[in-house]
Amino acid sequence: MYKHILLPTDGSKLSAKAVRQAVRFAQSIGAKLTVIHVSAAYRGMMDEGFAVPAVSAYRKRFEEQGIKHSKLLLEGVKSAAQAAGVACDGVAVISDFPYDAIIKQAKKAKCDLIMMASHGRKGLSSLLLGSETAKVLTHSTIPVLVVR
Ligand SMILES: Nc1ncnc2c1ncn2[C@@H]1O[C@H](COP(=O)(O)OP(=O)(O)O)[C@@H](O)[C@H]1O
Ligand SMILES: [Mg+2]
Repeated sequence: MYKHILLPTDGSKLSAKAVRQAVRFAQSIGAKLTVIHVSAAYRGMMDEGFAVPAVSAYRKRFEEQGIKHSKLLLEGVKSAAQAAGVACDGVAVISDFPYDAIIKQAKKAKCDLIMMASHGRKGLSSLLLGSETAKVLTHSTIPVLVVR
């Protein structure tokens, strides 16, 4: 039924568990994967409470580092998928709103399922769900499978 799964990852241990399950799940149902990592946009420096417009060279370097880090994460997932015989694309996006970038990518790539961990970098706190997962669940119009 599901043919194309979007797999957001933040590189955390909990996310790695979701990655392993998603690869096995995709393999068992013959689906393909798109793995996405969202890195933060450069916000500029604060000076006496006012945001100073970002120096463009610094912004560029900051965002290039973000993309480089994303690509490292994505390569790891892509090789795990490849080893399992699952087709997998990687997408690196810059945004301050990971949940929004995840939902937009799901639409753009016409994914029919989003599969992600309940928590991420902040870990299993008393919160029922991590903040990005909670927002994806709230705003997504396609099914979301939450790995615990
Ligand atoms: N920047 C990100 N890029 C891609 N996926 C993300 C990002 N941040 C979180 N996620 C996804 O959401 C899951 C839950 O993370 P999150 O909701 O941020 O929880 P936490 O509050 O514990 O960090 C992660 O395991 C990952 O799958
Ligand atoms: Mg997080």
